[in-house]
Amino acid sequence: MAKSMTPVQLLRELEPVAEQNLDRHLSMAKEWHPHDYVPWDEGRNFAAMGGTDWAPGESRLGEVARAAMITNLLTEDNLPSYHRLISDAFSRDGTWRTWVDRWTAEENRHGIAIRDYLVVTRGVDPVALERARMICMEQGVDNPNGTGDHSVLPGVAYVTFQELATRVSHRNTGRVCDDPIADRMLTRIATDENLHMVFYRNICGAALDLVPDDALAAISAVIRNFTMPGAGMPDFRRNSVLLAKHGIYDLRQHLEEVIEPVLRKWNIFERNDFSPRGAEVLDELGTFLEKLRTDVVRFEEQRDRALARDAARRERESV
Ligand SMILES: [Fe+2]
Ligand SMILES: [Fe+2]
Repeated sequence: MAKSMTPVQLLRELEPVAEQNLDRHLSMAKEWHPHDYVPWDEGRNFAAMGGTDWAPGESRLGEVARAAMITNLLTEDNLPSYHRLISDAFSRDGTWRTWVDRWTAEENRHGIAIRDYLVVTRGVDPVALERARMICMEQGVDNPNGTGDHSVLPGVAYVTFQELATRVSHRNTGRVCDDPIADRMLTRIATDENLHMVFYRNICGAALDLVPDDALAAISAVIRNFTMPGAGMPDFRRNSVLLAKHGIYDLRQHLEEVIEPVLRKWNIFERNDFSPRGAEVLDELGTFLEKLRTDVVRFEEQRDRALARDAARRERESV
Protein backbone atom coordinates (compact mmCIF):
# COMPACT_ATOMS: atom_id res chain seq x y z
CA MET A 1 0.00 0.00 0.00
CA ALA A 2 1.54 3.27 -1.10
CA LYS A 3 2.01 5.86 1.60
CA SER A 4 0.19 9.16 1.52
CA MET A 5 0.30 12.12 3.87
CA THR A 6 -1.55 15.38 4.26
CA PRO A 7 0.51 18.52 3.56
CA VAL A 8 0.58 19.26 7.31
CA GLN A 9 1.94 15.77 8.12
CA LEU A 10 4.47 16.10 5.33
CA LEU A 11 5.73 19.43 6.59
CA ARG A 12 6.11 17.98 10.07
CA GLU A 13 8.01 14.94 8.76
CA LEU A 14 10.21 17.05 6.50
CA GLU A 15 11.03 19.73 9.03
CA PRO A 16 14.28 18.05 10.26
CA VAL A 17 15.45 17.84 6.63
CA ALA A 18 14.58 21.51 6.17
CA GLU A 19 16.56 22.34 9.31
CA GLN A 20 19.66 20.46 8.12
CA ASN A 21 19.42 22.11 4.73
CA LEU A 22 18.89 25.55 6.21
CA ASP A 23 22.08 25.04 8.26
CA ARG A 24 23.89 23.83 5.17
CA HIS A 25 22.66 26.84 3.22
CA LEU A 26 23.71 29.32 5.90
CA SER A 27 27.17 27.76 6.12
CA MET A 28 27.66 28.08 2.35
CA ALA A 29 25.93 31.36 1.47
CA LYS A 30 28.42 34.22 1.30
CA GLU A 31 27.46 37.76 2.18
CA TRP A 32 27.60 40.10 -0.79
CA HIS A 33 26.54 43.66 -1.48
CA PRO A 34 24.72 44.90 -4.58
CA HIS A 35 26.66 48.20 -4.50
CA ASP A 36 29.90 46.28 -5.12
CA TYR A 37 28.58 45.16 -8.51
CA VAL A 38 27.50 48.51 -9.96
CA PRO A 39 29.80 51.04 -11.75
CA TRP A 40 28.52 54.09 -9.89
CA ASP A 41 30.98 56.49 -11.55
CA GLU A 42 29.08 55.99 -14.82
CA GLY A 43 25.90 57.41 -13.27
CA ARG A 44 24.39 60.70 -14.44
CA ASN A 45 21.31 62.62 -13.38
CA PHE A 46 18.10 62.34 -15.35
CA ALA A 47 16.14 65.40 -16.53
CA ALA A 48 14.13 65.80 -13.31
CA MET A 49 17.45 66.41 -11.51
CA GLY A 50 18.89 68.76 -14.13
CA GLY A 51 20.47 66.08 -16.34
CA THR A 52 19.20 64.35 -19.46
CA ASP A 53 16.66 61.61 -19.88
CA TRP A 54 17.48 58.21 -21.32
CA ALA A 55 17.86 57.86 -25.07
CA PRO A 56 18.11 54.54 -26.94
CA GLY A 57 21.64 55.18 -28.23
CA GLU A 58 22.97 55.31 -24.64
CA SER A 59 22.59 51.61 -23.99
CA ARG A 60 25.68 49.60 -24.69
CA LEU A 61 23.71 46.37 -24.33
CA GLY A 62 22.63 44.57 -27.49
CA GLU A 63 19.00 43.72 -28.21
CA VAL A 64 19.25 40.18 -26.80
CA ALA A 65 21.05 41.31 -23.63
CA ARG A 66 18.45 44.02 -23.04
CA ALA A 67 15.54 41.60 -23.48
CA ALA A 68 17.23 39.08 -21.18
CA MET A 69 18.04 41.63 -18.48
CA ILE A 70 14.48 42.99 -18.49
CA THR A 71 12.91 39.53 -18.40
CA ASN A 72 15.19 38.40 -15.57
CA LEU A 73 14.68 41.58 -13.57
CA LEU A 74 10.88 41.58 -13.91
CA THR A 75 10.93 37.93 -12.85
CA GLU A 76 12.92 38.88 -9.74
CA ASP A 77 10.59 41.84 -9.13
CA ASN A 78 7.60 39.56 -8.63
CA LEU A 79 9.16 38.31 -5.40
CA PRO A 80 6.15 39.26 -3.22
CA SER A 81 4.03 36.79 -5.21
CA TYR A 82 6.57 33.99 -4.82
CA HIS A 83 6.91 34.80 -1.14
CA ARG A 84 3.16 34.48 -0.73
CA LEU A 85 3.02 31.18 -2.62
CA ILE A 86 5.95 29.52 -0.90
CA SER A 87 4.88 30.83 2.49
CA ASP A 88 1.41 29.32 1.94
CA ALA A 89 2.93 26.02 0.78
CA PHE A 90 5.16 25.78 3.85
CA SER A 91 4.12 26.95 7.30
CA ARG A 92 4.37 30.22 9.14
CA ASP A 93 6.52 28.98 11.98
CA GLY A 94 9.64 27.01 12.82
CA THR A 95 12.31 26.22 10.26
CA TRP A 96 9.95 26.70 7.32
CA ARG A 97 9.33 30.29 8.34
CA THR A 98 13.05 30.94 8.93
CA TRP A 99 13.89 29.58 5.49
CA VAL A 100 11.16 31.47 3.63
CA ASP A 101 12.22 34.80 5.12
CA ARG A 102 15.92 34.18 4.58
CA TRP A 103 15.32 33.10 0.98
CA THR A 104 13.13 36.15 0.36
CA ALA A 105 15.82 38.48 1.69
CA GLU A 106 18.44 36.89 -0.58
CA GLU A 107 16.16 37.04 -3.61
CA ASN A 108 15.44 40.71 -3.02
CA ARG A 109 19.14 41.43 -3.52
CA HIS A 110 18.95 40.17 -7.09
CA GLY A 111 16.41 42.75 -8.20
CA ILE A 112 18.26 45.50 -6.34
CA ALA A 113 21.58 44.72 -8.04
CA ILE A 114 20.20 44.31 -11.57
CA ARG A 115 18.07 47.46 -11.37
CA ASP A 116 20.91 49.57 -9.99
CA TYR A 117 23.19 48.32 -12.75
CA LEU A 118 20.65 49.02 -15.52
CA VAL A 119 19.76 52.50 -14.27
CA VAL A 120 23.33 53.62 -13.59
CA THR A 121 24.69 52.35 -16.91
CA ARG A 122 21.56 53.50 -18.81
CA GLY A 123 21.26 49.98 -20.15
CA VAL A 124 17.48 50.15 -20.65
CA ASP A 125 14.76 52.81 -20.69
CA PRO A 126 14.08 53.38 -16.97
CA VAL A 127 10.56 54.70 -17.59
CA ALA A 128 9.53 51.66 -19.63
CA LEU A 129 11.19 49.44 -17.02
CA GLU A 130 9.25 51.03 -14.18
CA ARG A 131 5.96 50.78 -16.09
CA ALA A 132 6.64 47.12 -16.84
CA ARG A 133 7.40 46.49 -13.16
CA MET A 134 4.07 48.03 -12.17
CA ILE A 135 2.19 45.87 -14.68
CA CYS A 136 3.95 42.70 -13.53
CA MET A 137 3.53 43.29 -9.84
CA GLU A 138 -0.07 44.44 -10.07
CA GLN A 139 -0.80 41.28 -11.99
CA GLY A 140 1.26 39.10 -9.64
CA VAL A 141 1.97 35.43 -10.15
CA ASP A 142 -0.71 33.01 -9.11
CA ASN A 143 -0.26 29.62 -10.71
CA PRO A 144 3.36 29.39 -11.79
CA ASN A 145 3.53 25.60 -11.60
CA GLY A 146 0.53 25.33 -13.88
CA THR A 147 -1.14 22.59 -11.84
CA GLY A 148 -3.44 24.79 -9.76
CA ASP A 149 -2.11 22.97 -6.68
CA HIS A 150 0.31 24.97 -4.54
CA SER A 151 0.71 22.68 -1.61
CA VAL A 152 4.14 21.56 -0.49
CA LEU A 153 4.85 18.80 -3.06
CA PRO A 154 4.17 20.65 -6.33
CA GLY A 155 5.51 23.77 -4.58
CA VAL A 156 8.98 22.36 -3.90
CA ALA A 157 9.11 20.49 -7.20
CA TYR A 158 8.40 23.70 -9.11
CA VAL A 159 10.86 25.90 -7.24
CA THR A 160 13.61 23.30 -7.68
CA PHE A 161 13.30 23.58 -11.47
CA GLN A 162 12.57 27.28 -11.39
CA GLU A 163 15.67 28.17 -9.32
CA LEU A 164 17.84 26.14 -11.66
CA ALA A 165 16.18 27.76 -14.69
CA THR A 166 16.92 31.25 -13.33
CA ARG A 167 20.50 30.19 -12.65
CA VAL A 168 20.93 29.16 -16.29
CA SER A 169 19.21 32.27 -17.56
CA HIS A 170 21.21 34.72 -15.39
CA ARG A 171 24.49 33.05 -16.28
CA ASN A 172 23.80 33.11 -20.01
CA THR A 173 22.56 36.70 -19.82
CA GLY A 174 25.90 37.64 -18.23
CA ARG A 175 27.66 36.16 -21.24
CA VAL A 176 25.70 38.09 -23.87
CA CYS A 177 26.02 41.45 -22.10
CA ASP A 178 29.55 41.80 -23.38
CA ASP A 179 30.41 43.69 -20.18
CA PRO A 180 32.60 42.10 -17.51
CA ILE A 181 30.78 44.06 -14.79
CA ALA A 182 27.37 42.68 -15.76
CA ASP A 183 28.83 39.22 -16.19
CA ARG A 184 30.34 39.29 -12.70
CA MET A 185 27.08 40.51 -11.15
CA LEU A 186 24.97 37.87 -12.91
CA THR A 187 27.45 35.12 -12.07
CA ARG A 188 27.14 36.16 -8.44
CA ILE A 189 23.34 36.02 -8.65
CA ALA A 190 23.45 32.66 -10.46
CA THR A 191 25.49 31.24 -7.55
CA ASP A 192 22.68 32.23 -5.16
CA GLU A 193 20.09 30.61 -7.41
CA ASN A 194 22.07 27.40 -7.40
CA LEU A 195 22.16 27.28 -3.61
CA HIS A 196 18.42 27.91 -3.49
CA MET A 197 17.87 25.10 -5.97
CA VAL A 198 19.91 22.71 -3.80
CA PHE A 199 17.73 23.49 -0.77
CA TYR A 200 14.48 22.80 -2.62
CA ARG A 201 15.90 19.81 -4.47
CA ASN A 202 16.92 18.19 -1.18
CA ILE A 203 13.50 18.79 0.35
CA CYS A 204 11.80 17.33 -2.70
CA GLY A 205 14.25 14.38 -2.65
CA ALA A 206 13.34 13.66 0.99
CA ALA A 207 9.64 13.88 0.06
CA LEU A 208 10.24 11.25 -2.63
CA ASP A 209 11.61 8.90 0.04
CA LEU A 210 8.67 9.62 2.32
CA VAL A 211 5.77 9.48 -0.15
CA PRO A 212 7.23 8.21 -3.43
CA ASP A 213 4.04 8.06 -5.50
CA ASP A 214 2.65 11.42 -4.41
CA ALA A 215 5.98 13.17 -4.84
CA LEU A 216 6.46 11.66 -8.29
CA ALA A 217 2.94 12.69 -9.33
CA ALA A 218 3.71 16.28 -8.27
CA ILE A 219 7.09 16.30 -10.05
CA SER A 220 5.60 14.89 -13.22
CA ALA A 221 2.71 17.39 -13.22
CA VAL A 222 5.12 20.28 -12.69
CA ILE A 223 7.40 19.18 -15.54
CA ARG A 224 4.48 18.76 -17.93
CA ASN A 225 3.03 22.16 -17.11
CA PHE A 226 6.27 24.08 -16.64
CA THR A 227 6.41 27.70 -17.71
CA MET A 228 8.71 30.46 -16.55
CA PRO A 229 6.79 32.75 -14.21
CA GLY A 230 6.92 35.73 -16.56
CA ALA A 231 4.02 34.86 -18.82
CA GLY A 232 2.14 38.07 -18.03
CA MET A 233 5.04 40.46 -18.63
CA PRO A 234 4.84 43.10 -21.35
CA ASP A 235 6.54 41.69 -24.48
CA PHE A 236 6.99 38.30 -22.81
CA ARG A 237 6.37 36.30 -25.97
CA ARG A 238 8.63 38.39 -28.10
CA ASN A 239 11.34 38.39 -25.46
CA SER A 240 11.18 34.70 -24.68
CA VAL A 241 11.42 33.87 -28.39
CA LEU A 242 14.48 36.12 -28.58
CA LEU A 243 16.03 34.44 -25.52
CA ALA A 244 15.36 30.97 -26.90
CA LYS A 245 16.69 31.93 -30.31
CA HIS A 246 19.96 33.16 -28.83
CA GLY A 247 20.57 30.44 -26.26
CA ILE A 248 19.78 32.37 -23.08
CA TYR A 249 17.08 29.90 -22.17
CA ASP A 250 15.95 27.43 -24.79
CA LEU A 251 14.32 24.03 -24.90
CA ARG A 252 17.59 22.08 -24.93
CA GLN A 253 18.85 23.99 -21.89
CA HIS A 254 15.50 23.43 -20.19
CA LEU A 255 15.74 19.69 -20.79
CA GLU A 256 19.48 19.06 -20.39
CA GLU A 257 20.53 21.65 -17.82
CA VAL A 258 17.39 21.87 -15.71
CA ILE A 259 15.03 18.86 -15.91
CA GLU A 260 17.43 15.97 -16.51
CA PRO A 261 20.15 16.77 -13.93
CA VAL A 262 17.53 17.12 -11.19
CA LEU A 263 15.76 13.90 -12.17
CA ARG A 264 19.13 12.12 -12.17
CA LYS A 265 19.90 13.48 -8.71
CA TRP A 266 16.58 12.10 -7.49
CA ASN A 267 17.30 8.79 -9.21
CA ILE A 268 13.79 8.96 -10.60
CA PHE A 269 14.12 6.31 -13.27
CA GLU A 270 16.11 3.86 -11.12
CA ARG A 271 13.95 3.85 -8.01
CA ASN A 272 12.03 0.76 -7.03
CA ASP A 273 9.77 2.22 -4.36
CA PHE A 274 6.86 3.23 -6.59
CA SER A 275 3.56 1.34 -6.52
CA PRO A 276 1.97 0.22 -9.84
CA ARG A 277 0.21 3.60 -9.93
CA GLY A 278 3.57 5.36 -9.48
CA ALA A 279 5.13 3.16 -12.17
CA GLU A 280 2.43 4.31 -14.58
CA VAL A 281 3.15 7.97 -13.81
CA LEU A 282 6.84 7.25 -14.35
CA ASP A 283 6.10 5.74 -17.77
CA GLU A 284 4.07 8.78 -18.74
CA LEU A 285 6.87 11.05 -17.61
CA GLY A 286 9.36 9.03 -19.67
CA THR A 287 7.14 9.38 -22.75
CA PHE A 288 6.78 13.10 -22.16
CA LEU A 289 10.56 13.57 -21.93
CA GLU A 290 11.03 11.52 -25.11
CA LYS A 291 8.69 13.90 -26.90
CA LEU A 292 10.54 16.89 -25.44
CA ARG A 293 13.78 15.49 -26.91
CA THR A 294 12.16 15.34 -30.35
CA ASP A 295 10.82 18.88 -29.88
CA VAL A 296 14.35 20.08 -29.05
CA VAL A 297 15.65 18.84 -32.40
CA ARG A 298 12.71 20.32 -34.30
CA PHE A 299 13.09 23.65 -32.49
CA GLU A 300 16.79 23.81 -33.25
CA GLU A 301 16.24 23.09 -36.93
CA GLN A 302 13.70 25.90 -37.10
CA ARG A 303 16.00 28.19 -35.15
CA ASP A 304 18.95 27.52 -37.44
CA ARG A 305 16.81 28.31 -40.46
CA ALA A 306 15.55 31.54 -38.83
CA LEU A 307 19.09 32.63 -37.87
CA ALA A 308 20.30 31.90 -41.39
CA ARG A 309 17.44 34.03 -42.80
CA ASP A 310 18.36 36.86 -40.38
CA ALA A 311 22.00 36.68 -41.45
CA ALA A 312 21.05 36.71 -45.14
CA ARG A 313 18.81 39.74 -44.60
CA ARG A 314 21.57 41.63 -42.81
CA GLU A 315 23.94 40.73 -45.62
CA ARG A 316 21.49 42.10 -48.21
CA GLU A 317 20.89 45.26 -46.20
CA SER A 318 24.59 45.95 -45.87
CA VAL A 319 25.25 45.88 -49.62
FE1 LIG B 1 16.70 35.44 -7.85
FE1 LIG C 1 16.66 32.02 -6.15
